[in-house]
Amino acid sequence: MMELQGRSSISLPLILATWLLVAAAFIGPAECIRRKRQLPGGSEDGKGGGVEQFKYSAAACRAHTASLADFGGVGDGATSNTAAFHAAVSHLSQFASDGGGLLFVPAGRWLTGPFNLTSSFTLFLHRDAVILATQDIKEWPIIDPLPSYGRGRDGPGGRYSSLIGGSNLTDVIITGNNGTIDGQGASWWSQFHSNKLKYTRGYLIELMHSNQIFISNLTLLNSPAWNIHPVYSSNIVVSGITILAPVHSPNTDGINPDSCYNVRIEDCYIVSGDDCVAIKSGWDEYGISYGMPSQHIVIRRLTCVSPTSAVIALGSEMSGGIRDVRAEDITALNSESGIRIKTAVGRGAYVKDVFVRRMNLNTMKWVFWMTGSYKSHPDDKYDPNAIPVVDGISYSEVVAYNVTMAARLEGIPSAPFTGICVSNVTVQLAKSMKTPWYCADVEGVSSGVTPSACASLADQGAAAAPCPFPTDASPMDGFQLQQCTYIKSYDA
Ligand SMILES: *[C@@H]1O[C@H](CO)[C@@H](O)[C@H](O)[C@H]1NC(C)=O
Ligand SMILES: *[C@@H]1O[C@H](CO)[C@@H](O)[C@H](O)[C@H]1NC(C)=O
Ligand SMILES: *[C@@H]1O[C@H](CO)[C@@H](O)[C@H](O)[C@H]1NC(C)=O
Ligand SMILES: *[C@@H]1O[C@H](CO)[C@@H](O)[C@H](O)[C@H]1NC(C)=O
Ligand SMILES: *[C@@H]1O[C@H](CO)[C@@H](O)[C@H](O)[C@H]1NC(C)=O
Ligand SMILES: *[C@@H]1O[C@H](CO)[C@@H](O)[C@H](O)[C@H]1NC(C)=O
Repeated sequence: MMELQGRSSISLPLILATWLLVAAAFIGPAECIRRKRQLPGGSEDGKGGGVEQFKYSAAACRAHTASLADFGGVGDGATSNTAAFHAAVSHLSQFASDGGGLLFVPAGRWLTGPFNLTSSFTLFLHRDAVILATQDIKEWPIIDPLPSYGRGRDGPGGRYSSLIGGSNLTDVIITGNNGTIDGQGASWWSQFHSNKLKYTRGYLIELMHSNQIFISNLTLLNSPAWNIHPVYSSNIVVSGITILAPVHSPNTDGINPDSCYNVRIEDCYIVSGDDCVAIKSGWDEYGISYGMPSQHIVIRRLTCVSPTSAVIALGSEMSGGIRDVRAEDITALNSESGIRIKTAVGRGAYVKDVFVRRMNLNTMKWVFWMTGSYKSHPDDKYDPNAIPVVDGISYSEVVAYNVTMAARLEGIPSAPFTGICVSNVTVQLAKSMKTPWYCADVEGVSSGVTPSACASLADQGAAAAPCPFPTDASPMDGFQLQQCTYIKSYDA
C-alpha cells in the first residue's frame, strides 16, 4: 500500500490549503429556520419595512443577498423568469471579491430558460421552490461541444446548453432545503427517441473549469439528459441529493464527474434511466489529447435504482484516465449491474486503483460487469493502437440477492484486465447456473466468494487477507459547513 500513502501526501495539503480559507470549525445544526421578524416600529406585512431572515448551513456564507422576486421574478409556473435569473446573477456577480452573493429562490414555481452562475455565489432554493426548465427549445442556446469529446454525446456538432451552467468559476454553492429543480425532460426524451433533435440535449447542471463546487440538499427531477455534470473541475462535494427520472428515460444519468479531481459524492438517492453515478474523462482521440483524468473520487452512502444501467459506471468515456476511486456503503435495488467498467480499443488511458466495499444489492443482472469492447466511438478516426489499461480493481464485503449472474468480466484479448481482487462476496442467484462467473481476459485473485469466482481469479482461500481499501485521507475530508444567516430587509 506504499502507493496509496504517497497519494495522500499530494492530496491532503491541497485540500487543507483550499479549506482553511472557507472552513469554520462549527458544523451547524440540521434544520433551516425561516421567519419574518418585525423591525422596531415596523409592521408585519412589510408596510413599515422589515427583515426576513433564516439560518442555513453551507460551505461558505455570503455577504450580499437578493431574492429572485426582486428582479421581477414571478413564481406562477407560467411566466418566464429567464431575464430575472440573468439580472439577479449579474447583479450578484459584482460581489465576487466582496464577500460573495446569495440568490434566494422563494417558494413558487419559477419557469426559466438556461442561466449561468458566477463565482463566490450561492443559489439557495426554499423547500417549496421549484425551478422549472422551459420547454421552449428556442430559449436553449447552442454551445460548443466539450473539447474532450470532440462532438455532442447524442450527435455530431454542438449541444444545447445546460439549464444551470457556469464556466471558470470559483466557489459555487447550489443548495436549499430540498427545493426542486425540474428539467421537464419528457419533450426532450420523445424528440430524442424520434431523432428530431439537431443537437445534443442539455444537462440539468453543468459546471466547467471550476473549483470548489458544492451541490447539496436538493431534488432534481426529469432532466433532459445527465443531471449533474462537473467537468474539468476540482474540489467538489455533492451531498444529500435526490435525483428522480423515469427508469426508461434516455441517458438520465445521476452524477457524472468528468475529468474532475477531488470529488466527494455522499448521501444521494437516485432513481434513473441510466447510470446513477458515471465517472468519465473524455472520448477516444479527443479525450486522449485533452488528457485530463478523473481522480481522487469518493462515493459514500449512495442508494440507487437503475433497472437498465449501473449503480456506478467507470467509462465508457475514460480516455483521460480514471484513477483512485473509492466507493463504500452502496445500496441498490433493481439495477442492471453493480459496478460496471466499460472501455474499448481506441479509448487509450486507464482505469486503475478502484476500491469498492460494503455493497448491499437486491435484484440485479450482474453484480460485477467489465467490458473491453464497448462499441461506441465519436467517429472513425480513433487510434486502434490506443489500448486502455484496466488494473487494480478491488471489490469486497458485497452481499447481493436475486441476481441473474454474479459477474461478467470481459477484458481485451491483447491487454487483459489485471490486478482484480474480489473478497468476501456472497451472491444469491435467482436460479442456480453452471457458470455464475463468466471471465475472459482478466487476471486476479479471490477469497471468500460464493459462488466461487472463475479460475482466472485464483482462489486464495477464505483465510486470505481481504482486498485492499485505502486508509489514507479521502478527497475533501477537510470539508466543513459554516452556519450562515440569510438576512434581507425590505422597504416600506
Ligand atoms: C443538508 O441538510 C441537512 C438536513 O437539514 C443539514 O444537516 C446539512 O447541513 C445540509 N448539508 C449541506 C451540505 O447543505
Ligand atoms: C453560459 O456560459 C457559456 C460560456 O461559458 C455560454 O456559451 C452560454 O451561452 C452561457 N449561457 C447562457 C444561458 O447565458
Ligand atoms: C476557462 O478556463 C479554461 C481552462 O483554464 C481556459 O482554456 C478558457 O480559456 C477559460 N475561459 C474563459 C472564458 O476564461
Ligand atoms: C426530498 O424530496 C424528495 C422528493 O419529494 C423526497 O423523496 C425526499 O425524501 C426528500 N428528502 C429529504 C431529506 O427530505
Ligand atoms: C427477483 O428478480 C426478478 C427479476 O429478475 C423480479 O421480477 C422479482 O420480483 C425479484 N424478486 C424479489 C423477491 O425481489
Ligand atoms: C464480510 O462481509 C459482511 C457483509 O457483507 C460483513 O458483515 C463481514 O464482517 C465481512 N467479513 C469480513 C471478515 O470482513
